[in-house]
Amino acid sequence: MKIIQDTQRNCARMAAEEYRKLLGENPHCVLGLATGSTPEMLYEELVALCKAGKLSFKDVTTYNLDEYVGLDGSHPQSYRYFMDSHLFNLVDIDKTRTHVPCGIGVTDEMAAHYDDEIKQAGGVDLQLLGIGHDGHIGFNEPHDAFDLGTHCVDLAQETIEANKRFFDGNVDLVPKQAYTMGIRTIMQARKVLMVVNGAGKAEIVKKAFFGPVTPEVPASILQLHPDFILVGDEEALSLI
Ligand code: PGA
Repeated sequence: MKIIQDTQRNCARMAAEEYRKLLGENPHCVLGLATGSTPEMLYEELVALCKAGKLSFKDVTTYNLDEYVGLDGSHPQSYRYFMDSHLFNLVDIDKTRTHVPCGIGVTDEMAAHYDDEIKQAGGVDLQLLGIGHDGHIGFNEPHDAFDLGTHCVDLAQETIEANKRFFDGNVDLVPKQAYTMGIRTIMQARKVLMVVNGAGKAEIVKKAFFGPVTPEVPASILQLHPDFILVGDEEALSLI
C-alpha cells in the first residue's frame, strides 16, 4: 500500500497524473470509475487535461462501480447522469464504451453478467474508489461477502443518511438498494486508487487500513491488494 498526502486539489492533480500516465502508455485501457463527492475534483482535472490536449479518452473503455436500483440514466441522481455530466460529456470518450450498471429491470443473472463483460474487455487496469463512512467500497456494505461479483445490495442506513444530501435531504427519496461491483470484482483490478478527503473520513481510514481485514470493514480487504494507492488530504489522513 502506498499512501500520498497533500491538499485536496493536489491530491486530485496527482490522481489525474496517474490517469495521464496510464492513458499515455495504454490508450486502450479499461478504467473502473466511481461517483460521489470525492471524485468530482479529479474529474475536473481530467477534463482540463483532456481540453488541453494532454490526455485522450478516445479508445478507453470504462465500467462504473454502481447504480441505484430504480433510477434510470435520465434521473439527475442516477450515477449514469453523474458520469455523463461530470466526465463523459466533457471529454473525447466514445460513450458506447462507457458502462454503468443498469438500475432498472435487472435480474441477478444480468447483474452478474457485468463481471463477464469486464473480463471480456480485458479486466480493469485502474479502479477508482472512494470510501463510505461505514467502510463501504462501491456499495459493498459491512458484512457483504468478500467473494461476491456484481450484485444487488440493501444500502445500510448510514449510507442512506449520508446520501440524502443528494435527494433534497429527504431520506424517503433515497433508493434503498443498489447494484454494485462486488469486492471480488474490485480486487481483480490491476491497480486500485482510493481518494479520501475531509476529517469525516479520518476514523474509517484508520480502521480500514490499520485495523484487521474483515468484512465488517469492506475497504480493509484493500490491504491485501498488490497495487493499492491511497491519496488523501491532511484531515482524512490525520489519524494514521
Ligand atoms: P463520497 O462517497 O465521495 O460522496 O463521500 C464515498 C462513498 O460512499 O464511496
